[in-house]
Amino acid sequence: MDVAKRLVREHSLTREDALQLLADAKNPETAALLAKEAVKLRRAHYGDKVFARGLIEFTNYCKNNCYYCGIRRGNGHVARYRLTEEEVLSCCGKGYRLGLRTFVLQGGEDPYYTDEKIAGLVRKVKEAYPACALTLSIGEKPRRSYRMFREAGADRYLLRHETADPDHYRFLHPQPMSLEARKGCLYDLKDLGYQVGAGFMVGSPGQTAECLASDLVFLQELNPHMVGIGPFVPHRDTRFAQEPAGSVELTLFLLSVVRILLPKALLPATTALGTLDLQGREKGLAAGANVVMPNLTPERNRKQYDLYDHKACTGEESAEGLADLSKRVALAGCQLAWERGDCQGWPEKGP
Ligand code: 5AD
Repeated sequence: MDVAKRLVREHSLTREDALQLLADAKNPETAALLAKEAVKLRRAHYGDKVFARGLIEFTNYCKNNCYYCGIRRGNGHVARYRLTEEEVLSCCGKGYRLGLRTFVLQGGEDPYYTDEKIAGLVRKVKEAYPACALTLSIGEKPRRSYRMFREAGADRYLLRHETADPDHYRFLHPQPMSLEARKGCLYDLKDLGYQVGAGFMVGSPGQTAECLASDLVFLQELNPHMVGIGPFVPHRDTRFAQEPAGSVELTLFLLSVVRILLPKALLPATTALGTLDLQGREKGLAAGANVVMPNLTPERNRKQYDLYDHKACTGEESAEGLADLSKRVALAGCQLAWERGDCQGWPEKGP
């Protein structure tokens, strides 16, 4: 409890603090104290606003083989698909008409989409919808590719670091992936002027309190604009099929902690949270989250973007369910905001 109170006062944590705090994570009083502070800070920077992002999962081809992920290269049971440029634009059109002003183009690391194709797509989306923010989430690329996408008009980039512990990273990802490369990408993206999202899974196989302490320390160092935090959910076609899912409570606790460490961050109440708990989204908002990401992927492809078992993609997780989503956000004491929803203070002014 003492560490929690210090966190509330100082908005920072050492590694030792983080370990002590995590040891207290199951204490409901501590969780309540942190959630209260988290919601207060969110209010101070964003009022009651919860920002909506239209998620377009445009390819489930991936050259990587992350051991936990349903669409990893080695999974032969996946029906692979990729959307054409026209299809992506039509998803944006649908989202725009529904009132969404951010589109997130997310996909596996699909070599078919060369840098030129991605840059072309970014240009077309930004030309057609200049009032909208465009977020890319397409994995690790060389700095020059990130620069090309930024020059084409991309505003934001999501690249979860997954775990900030190098050994744990190797346990979850085969060669040649490395935490070092991942971090390098995140710093490149920041440097190029993107709003950058990092993030991690809670309860992934092999994760210890030490790993989570590293995540918290790393996030303070990177100081990203967005942080995606969701529970691990096993997928039947992975080596982790029999592993237990991550804890919803611990995910909520960490959302509150990250809100306090990075008060202006945009924190989604993730789909994985909504998948494990019917009230997951509302609980996420009550813990300090301020972003929801309804799915704009064409319905026939949604099930194929199968990162983990039973992934929610209908009802309030879908763009079709926006009216319901808006009601439920209001019941949680917030308001769905129909605007781009940039990070407070972005773009940072130069020296
Ligand atoms: N459980 C939870 N999240 C997962 N992701 C991938 N596989 C899983 C899983 N089994 C998350 C990763 C990735 C994001 C797109 O989805 O954190 O960054």
